[in-house]
Amino acid sequence: MAKRTIVMMPGDGIGKVVLPEAQRVLQAVGFEANYVPGDIGWEFWCKEGNALPKRTIDLLTEHKIGLFGAITSKPKDKAAAELSPALKGKGHVYYSPIVTMRQHFDLDLCVRPCRSFKGNPLNFIRRQGDGFFEPPVDVVIFRQNTEGLYCGVEWTNPPANVRTALETHPKMGAFKHVPGEDLAVSTRIFSRGACRRIVRAGFEHARQFGYKSVTICEKPNVIRETSGMMLSEAQIIAKEFPGIALWDTNIDAQMMWLTKNPEDYGVIVAGNMFGDIVSDGFAGLVGGLGFACSANIGKDVAVFEPTHGSAPKYEKLDPPIVNPIAMILSACMMLDHLGETATAERIRGAIAKVVAEGKVRTYDMMRLTGGPGVFQQGAANTRQMTDAILAKL
Ligand code: NAI
Ligand code: MG
Repeated sequence: MAKRTIVMMPGDGIGKVVLPEAQRVLQAVGFEANYVPGDIGWEFWCKEGNALPKRTIDLLTEHKIGLFGAITSKPKDKAAAELSPALKGKGHVYYSPIVTMRQHFDLDLCVRPCRSFKGNPLNFIRRQGDGFFEPPVDVVIFRQNTEGLYCGVEWTNPPANVRTALETHPKMGAFKHVPGEDLAVSTRIFSRGACRRIVRAGFEHARQFGYKSVTICEKPNVIRETSGMMLSEAQIIAKEFPGIALWDTNIDAQMMWLTKNPEDYGVIVAGNMFGDIVSDGFAGLVGGLGFACSANIGKDVAVFEPTHGSAPKYEKLDPPIVNPIAMILSACMMLDHLGETATAERIRGAIAKVVAEGKVRTYDMMRLTGGPGVFQQGAANTRQMTDAILAKL
């Protein structure tokens, strides 16, 4: 088989710090690939007026697999102010390159595993009798990535034809007297095909990896049309997966239950916004941003990235302090996707050993406030964490 080519997109800030660490691990396990750099992020917005240049889109179109660090995003006015003088006033508008990438390649499945590593001091614990109990959490969130409340169909002061169309709905009567400029509308659009794809992906994952339940986490009692569509499609698809229980929870109740009995859940499927919320919630139970990995999977292209952002306040620290594990786990998801599951398991096993031993911990694992002082307090730096993982391989 021809050697794989991976498009490496470090992005901004600590994205540039953690991506090379993942590459070191991939090379150490003998994963054979060519790595080509892909430009993305703030630097390219400022210099070129485009945070996701076409050459990067072309690379992803050609090679299909991307590993991505993180980007910096800023509000519209700040973005306009930082544009290079030659580009100002030429109609450039800042768009998040991640959202653009998801939409361009229709990366509609966002997969976010939240699995606790034994011995991680950041794990969720529960009081039990006079002591504490640490329930093992192993949840995989399937978040619809392209539609829902983040689909971008929204207005402040909606145009007259939109307003007229909305007013055909009796419930719009409540807003009849609100002036247009005081009215903001963000639409939540679900399509049946996308609901089916995310639900099916969740069930297939449950079957492949032995999860006993798939939970649809929405709010169909209130958001009847969109959440209702996701749930009714799930009820149909569930019939093809006997032996896997279909549960449904409301997002608000789910946020309560995940702090009470997180170990009861397996695969969770949700729309874009609720998936965003519930995945951050579960990530907080298993170590937070230093551990939260994700995959964005389309029919053709897939991009793997840690959930965290560019953490600009730490980007210039040398040696760097941030935890590379979220990025390395994202690279493991890439290996899973490419069918290299044994290699991915080997890396996850090495991470598990380092965490369980507890000798090498980045500042976040020690609950320290980030800064150059963390090393005096016993924290490992980013490269030392990777070195410890490499030593266990
Ligand atoms: P952030 O995720 O960059 O950082 C929040 C805090 O989490 C950091 O200050 C740090 O304390 C901690 N943290 C993050 N990653 C860590 C790691 N690997 N190890 C240890 N601690 C870690 O989110 P924030 O500060 O809200 O946003 C910073 C920038 O990143 C913004 O411009 C934002 O738009 C962007 N962003 C980009 C994302 C992406 O590229 N996918 C996602 C979230 C934010
Ligand atoms: Mg988020």
